[in-house]
Amino acid sequence: MPETKYTTQIYLAVREHDVQEAGKAAALVYQDFLGRLRRTAPVVKGMRLEMDEPKPRKGDDGIFECWSNLKAVVPAELTTVDAENARDAWRSIVKTMFNYSCHHNHELVHHTSSRVEVTHEVLAADEAPVVTAPKEQKPKEMIPVKVMLGGKEFNVEIPKAENLLDGVNDKGVDVKWDCKNGVCDTCKVKVVEGMENLSPPTDAEESMLGDLIKQGYRLACQMVANGPCKIEQ
Ligand code: FES
Repeated sequence: MPETKYTTQIYLAVREHDVQEAGKAAALVYQDFLGRLRRTAPVVKGMRLEMDEPKPRKGDDGIFECWSNLKAVVPAELTTVDAENARDAWRSIVKTMFNYSCHHNHELVHHTSSRVEVTHEVLAADEAPVVTAPKEQKPKEMIPVKVMLGGKEFNVEIPKAENLLDGVNDKGVDVKWDCKNGVCDTCKVKVVEGMENLSPPTDAEESMLGDLIKQGYRLACQMVANGPCKIEQ
């Protein structure tokens, strides 16, 4: 069965008083995360987390940062709703499950610094790369997004129909977030242009923002972009 090996970088920041407790907290979150991944994608093999460093590194304000690599062998037919190929499906599963784990362990995790990135993939035949790109390698349509952040303007392109917050964060534009579940409003942004190109407000946005939506405010974690837009945070 065709399959691809993926490496995903996990950046996890936990709030603790000392390195031992931070290590235990990180292990808890990782355990929760791996359990969710295994339940959600039982066909994925060889899932394992490798810590780059044996101990978390101390950051500011009692935050300990951990870096690790998630390795997995993903079958080519892995699918999720809205994913065009197995890579997108895996990426979406990993991100969603990581966010669930961070949210579930809310009191331990520093959300702004924690994220996952699929950093490396090796095709089954990596070992003998094919000349013709497989179907799942087809590039996605990209959408230009302008972000006004701290008085600066950033111009990035994100994949069409991708979650706007994830899309701009992946491009290094640090739009702030905390829960990714529509319950904190940390990711609130003002849509300056292109509201018509964004997905309609979700129930979570309606209840969190109310009339602010009419004034152009949205939750970046709750919307996808289907065309150009400009947002401000
Ligand atoms: S990150 Fe909490 S509502 Fe979007």
